[in-house]
Amino acid sequence: MVKNTANLGEVRFNFAKKYFKEFVEERRGRIEKLLKPSETPVLLMDLEGVRKKYLQVKYNFSEFNVYYAVKANDDEGVIKTLAEVGSGFEVASTEELKRVLSAGARVEKIISSNPVKPPEFIDFAYSVGMRTFAIDSFAEVDKIARIAPRSKVYVRLAVPNEGSDWPLSRKFGVSVDKALEILEYANSKGLITYGITFHVGSQCNNLRNWFIAIKLSAELWERARAKGLKLQMLNIGGGIPVRYNYESLRVEDIAYYVKGLLRKYFPIQPYELQIEPGRGIVGDQGLMITRVIGKAERGGENWLYIDTGVFNGLAEALGGIRYPFYLEREGELKEWTVGGVSCDSMDVVAKGVFLPEPEVGDYLYILSAGAYTTVYASNFNGFPKPKVINF
Ligand SMILES: Cc1ncc(COP(=O)(O)O)c(C=O)c1O
Repeated sequence: MVKNTANLGEVRFNFAKKYFKEFVEERRGRIEKLLKPSETPVLLMDLEGVRKKYLQVKYNFSEFNVYYAVKANDDEGVIKTLAEVGSGFEVASTEELKRVLSAGARVEKIISSNPVKPPEFIDFAYSVGMRTFAIDSFAEVDKIARIAPRSKVYVRLAVPNEGSDWPLSRKFGVSVDKALEILEYANSKGLITYGITFHVGSQCNNLRNWFIAIKLSAELWERARAKGLKLQMLNIGGGIPVRYNYESLRVEDIAYYVKGLLRKYFPIQPYELQIEPGRGIVGDQGLMITRVIGKAERGGENWLYIDTGVFNGLAEALGGIRYPFYLEREGELKEWTVGGVSCDSMDVVAKGVFLPEPEVGDYLYILSAGAYTTVYASNFNGFPKPKVINF
């Protein structure tokens, strides 16, 4: 093994170990009895932590209305906790909307920023009183004008997603020129041209993405005004990162930077500012507990198999997300490839993970598993989704 790789492995393992110890220490008295469940996989969600994370975002982005992006974790306990503390919600489907309404959220505090929505969803949203929708195409304008007449619309700009572990910009968003055309078209269809949105990419650790996005938004804002379209709202989307196997930007630093940009590029503040974090609220409040179900040496690699995988909870491992792993053993570190529980060869959770040699049956702890895990999970191969335990 090359020495540098081993050193990096040791750094990573120590990072995960420290993270795990801190996570447990900060929840002392509430979490200990949950750490060795008889059945796995389990996702422990700290609802008190979720509440604190919301308040931290709200405090730092005090001028903003905060809409929690339900797609990150749609658990009833999470939604109820956030509704109780006054959060708004960003929803993408009828089911998400029903969930937040039944948790007691008021419809005025619900938005939908997905720019391409099923007609049935728009219809249902309109019937319960939602009047604000995102757009980024002429076809969406037609749909909203027909199903939800006179609604407020905000257009999604395409912005750089560089340095974001989970980029989103290829699928949605338009240029400033196109956005202007779409807004004019929406206006001609009797919709209220309300504002602008963008997404810098999920798990964004690159402040420059916010910089370019806000500059582009200011340009669109001015050009729309010159055409007689007075926009009122700027929605800066999600993107707030959490710690995975490296330290991430802090919400206070992002807020400080974004507010500075707004002062510079929006000398007259928009009437309404919105932010819709998902991962940044729930990501680091979830601990996944799995168990080692097998070990093997194959093709020169050490394989470790666990009882969950990319199809039942860890889908983001297929993209850019690198979870921290921890197990409670001492001893020399070995490099492992972590395989998921299913028969599919795509089901590989991580490579290059350094851990002490475990035994079959050991608990393997996966940190920062609170976002985009259970919501993506299926029962592929008949394996269970992680059971959620709120504490
Ligand atoms: C429209 C929209 N808003 C907000 C979010 C939440 O993003 P994040 O989890 O990065 O905060 C997403 C994520 O996909 C999204 O698509």
